[in-house]
Amino acid sequence: LHSRNQHATTLSVGDTLELVAEKGVYRGLGLFRAGGQVIFAPDVFAGERARLRIESIERGYARAKVEAVLEPSAARRASPCRYVPQCGGCSYQELQYAAQLELKARILRESLERAGVRFEGDVALRPSPEDGWRTRAGLHLARRGEEWLLGLREEGSHRVVDIQTCLQLSEGLNRAARGLLEALKGDPALLARLRGIELAESLDGSERVACLDTTLPVKEAARYGSATAELPWLTGLGVLSQAESRSGRFVQLRGEPYVYASVAGLRLRSHVRSFFQANRYLLADLVSAVLARVPEGGSALDLFAGVGLFALPLSAGGRAVCAAEINPFAIDDAIANAAAAGLDLRLERADVREALQRWPPARDERVVLDPPRTGAGREVVAALVARKPAAVVYVSCDPPTLGRDLRMFADSGYRLESLEAFDMFPDTFHLESLALLRPA
Ligand SMILES: C[S@@+](CC[C@H](N)C(=O)[O-])C[C@H]1O[C@@H](n2cnc3c(N)ncnc32)[C@H](O)[C@@H]1O
Repeated sequence: LHSRNQHATTLSVGDTLELVAEKGVYRGLGLFRAGGQVIFAPDVFAGERARLRIESIERGYARAKVEAVLEPSAARRASPCRYVPQCGGCSYQELQYAAQLELKARILRESLERAGVRFEGDVALRPSPEDGWRTRAGLHLARRGEEWLLGLREEGSHRVVDIQTCLQLSEGLNRAARGLLEALKGDPALLARLRGIELAESLDGSERVACLDTTLPVKEAARYGSATAELPWLTGLGVLSQAESRSGRFVQLRGEPYVYASVAGLRLRSHVRSFFQANRYLLADLVSAVLARVPEGGSALDLFAGVGLFALPLSAGGRAVCAAEINPFAIDDAIANAAAAGLDLRLERADVREALQRWPPARDERVVLDPPRTGAGREVVAALVARKPAAVVYVSCDPPTLGRDLRMFADSGYRLESLEAFDMFPDTFHLESLALLRPA
């Protein structure tokens, strides 16, 4: 064996060990144990024997790199992506899709168990096609010598992998991104001030908008418009100038900044700077699953409402809806979407914590809660349970913070009644889930 320390309790940076991965854990990592120490490494799956090199020692665990997979798992596959394993975008590209689903369902269960949340029911996980699913993407730009790189970051690093074709994206989005880079290569001074490109595509692929993330001042940002005159793959182009303020200022250069989605009989616009669910194939299923858990009529809150993806169909089903969203682009979209559909609901640009203090609780209230990855947190959970809602439908994109929040709900008398998951991010370690909570 290669290790000096295979059976010792202390590991040092640079040690090499041959070990078998005990299991896969969140963030696409394999978990190993050596002499009572836990080691995490990417690009390795449960049951695989691998040669690891220790990269860093953290509190209570070590991080390692896989130098070689010595005995691959039967679930390992040859990926059709040519950027594997260098690109950090897809941790599970080399894992068969059925095994990805199994792993994700187990990780979700374990996240709840670790948080001390009891749930004995089944967890159904809805699969997604693996290609071209992504309607939102953020690409980074970097320079290496004379070369410009546009793509995603390497696993565990800030280095950018130059990606000509990402399998998550439609052909149109790939072409739009590369077309922008090629056009801007004519003006290296502009490229030098570009940090990345955000992309948005409509569900049906008929609209495509790019937002150039730049450190150029607003006054000069229009130069990107003239440098990229002909871009047939884009219906809209804007810049986000981060020179004067931390949150940046958006300036529209060409076309419209919006893409559209038809969901639950409604047409929803979303600005390239608004949040919108990234998976085109599972969007309708997710919305139906939320609607099915909130009876028609009655009162509902939609917290972290985005462009009104849940709030508008809830309102269309005759519920009295109050929705809060902090992003100015998203709340503008939500208001425009409600007006276009002739729906009357309360849509406020507000921090959820503040809105919960102001809005009086309704009888038999239902709450849809769809926070960012950081989860709802203690303050929001406490404010919610104080309202005594009849049910909370928690849409989560991060199993560990879901576990933490469900534990707080459980401690306040809310029981997890059902849990299901949506593979909104196939081939990556990310997972969307839907938990229904009711008073115990
Ligand atoms: C996961 S997204 C969900 C959006 C929407 N429910 C959907 O599915 O399209 C979370 C949203 O919460 C918003 N947000 C983040 N922190 C917030 C806060 N403290 N108060 C209100 N909205 C917030 C973000 O801008 C984002 O639109």
